[in-house]
Amino acid sequence: MRVLGIETSCDETAAAVVADGQVVLSDIVATQFDLHAAYGGVVPELAARRHQENILPVIRAALHQAGLILDDLDALAVTQGPGLVGALVIGFAVAKALAYARNLPIVGVHHLKAHILAAYLEASPPVFPYVALVVSGGHSNLYFVRSFQDMQLLGRSRDDAAGEAFDKVAKLMDLGYPGGVAIEALAAPGDPTAFQLPRPRIEQEPLTFSFSGLKTAVAYLLKKNPEIRHPDHRPGPADLAASFQEAVVDSLVSRALLAVEQTHSSRLVVAGGVAANRRLRQELQAQTEAAGIELSIPSPQRCTDNAAMVAALGYHLLQAGERLDLSGDVFARG
Ligand code: KG4
Ligand code: ZN
Repeated sequence: MRVLGIETSCDETAAAVVADGQVVLSDIVATQFDLHAAYGGVVPELAARRHQENILPVIRAALHQAGLILDDLDALAVTQGPGLVGALVIGFAVAKALAYARNLPIVGVHHLKAHILAAYLEASPPVFPYVALVVSGGHSNLYFVRSFQDMQLLGRSRDDAAGEAFDKVAKLMDLGYPGGVAIEALAAPGDPTAFQLPRPRIEQEPLTFSFSGLKTAVAYLLKKNPEIRHPDHRPGPADLAASFQEAVVDSLVSRALLAVEQTHSSRLVVAGGVAANRRLRQELQAQTEAAGIELSIPSPQRCTDNAAMVAALGYHLLQAGERLDLSGDVFARG
């Protein structure tokens, strides 16, 4: 079954064709980093306009790369939310129009749950049940996954998401947008123990994340000690980036392992843009190995937004009989 996936929830216009939820026939991602970089973050109105320009060429490119025409498709899957409403509606409207015009089955997909499916596009897909940590720009969610339709939310962030913290700290340090990659690069030669940064925990809610205190601590440090900004100063920007990254990695890894323990499972899937971070991947490898936990992390390019993951989850939901009501709408949160 060949499913065309469509993704426009944030600042990437993406389309992909995936066969049977596993074989990627094409995978096209048009990023908008250039458009938003000058503003230090995604400007929703500009994102929507760029999606509008890109969506049809991106879909054509996905079909072309797969060597297919529209008639060869069996179904459509489209991101329904969460995300920027103005951005989501572009992909959603095009997908619904295609489904209607071609009389194709269509299913709406939850963006964060779709991130988990990137793990199924790798050589050895995970086996149910498992804990999944999805760390994207807007969310840090822990799920207990029993099936493609049964993903139970175990924990989330009460304030900023991990990716958001990377982006905001990058902005504070004048590193530009998107911030995660820039912080990772700057942190590489830095000393992660140079600054003692907070790792907030919420009593009674051990699986809840909180990153806004960490961001504020970095802002305060920079304000009080502006000399840290100077590359020749010790400790300097690389040390601050490394210390910040270490605090985020610590918070993510400790809660993910706790969730595995609490659910008595033995497998962990980690996905979403922040999962591309090498320090996080390294620490996850080390700690899961020590604890005897089976770890699945998609390749770095499949951690960030793409439509192959949307097509993959769509395939399984379609197999389970789910269909999108063409009068349905997108959702911003959830
Ligand atoms: O999943 P994603 O591509 O888009 C959303 O659904 O939001 O995640 C984007 C987030 C951004 O906050 C970005 O800074 C972060 O993932 N990110 C990283 C890295 N690559 C992307 N964070 C840390 N290290 C990275 N290498
Ligand atoms: Zn995402």
